[in-house]
Amino acid sequence: MEYSNLIVAIDSGIGTITINRPEKLNALNRVTIQELSSALDALALDSAVRVLIVTGSGNKAFVAGADISEFASFPVEQGEALARDGQQALFDKVAHFPKPVIAAVNGFALGGGLELAMAAHVRIAADSAKMGLPELSLGVIPGYGGTQRLPQLIGRGRAYEMLFSARMIDASTALVWGLVNKTCVLEELMTEARSMAQGFLKTSTQASAAAIQAVEAGFRPTERGYASEITAFGQCFQTPDFIEGTGAFLEKRKPDFS
Ligand code: COA
Repeated sequence: MEYSNLIVAIDSGIGTITINRPEKLNALNRVTIQELSSALDALALDSAVRVLIVTGSGNKAFVAGADISEFASFPVEQGEALARDGQQALFDKVAHFPKPVIAAVNGFALGGGLELAMAAHVRIAADSAKMGLPELSLGVIPGYGGTQRLPQLIGRGRAYEMLFSARMIDASTALVWGLVNKTCVLEELMTEARSMAQGFLKTSTQASAAAIQAVEAGFRPTERGYASEITAFGQCFQTPDFIEGTGAFLEKRKPDFS
């Protein structure tokens, strides 16, 4: 299948999806989310793929977030739908992908970008990568599972620190905090990711699918957290802070939340 914003490759049991919008730091616009969703559907059924790597093109960004220019003027209902549709079409699909998914974080992983990396089962980061959930600086909250998966990975206190400060952490902090499994120099990132994938190829594909199902079920004893995130995300869209926050980003100035 041909994609306008993705490069998909399959080699020796390993599928690789490269998000390819480098001029916008691989930000997830609607088309990219739809293409990722379709690519995941196709690769889930493709027996030539037993492990999947997701990365970003270029050496600056994995994914710099959801595309702010697309949602800055949304009303509440559309805000809620954005989160709900995105979770269903992409982020839940990654987490429940029936084969191991490795995120190879090659640069900025911010907002929806970090949420995408967190939905993957395993993360390897280039030591130049920067990770954060800057949504609160835009007057909104993460809407693609970030309020759930970040505390699951790094604990509640550190998750709140990242949310409230909106600051990015570097790869070595991410490693210490358990946000990523491994770091390496950027030049070796894909070699490291493939080497980890090759290790995963040695175990049973069917048992991997069963393990993913079991692990993910344990992290979603009820759907309440994710549902609350969708509602709260939507509510942000009627606040003056959201208009100021997204407006400031698009006008390339600092927001004034005073
Ligand atoms: N949505 C839409 N466009 C984005 C984007 C996003 N999340 N992140 C980056 N871009 C665009 C920029 O608008 C810019 O486009 P332009 O050249 O047409 O003006 C281009 O990508 C390059 O980004 P730029 O900001 O010029 O690069 P930088 O090196 O100065 O800064 C970042 C890099 C990652 C710090 C900065 O782009 C940023 O803060 N991005 C938004 C991160 C964010 O808040 N994500 C969460 C969204 S919910």
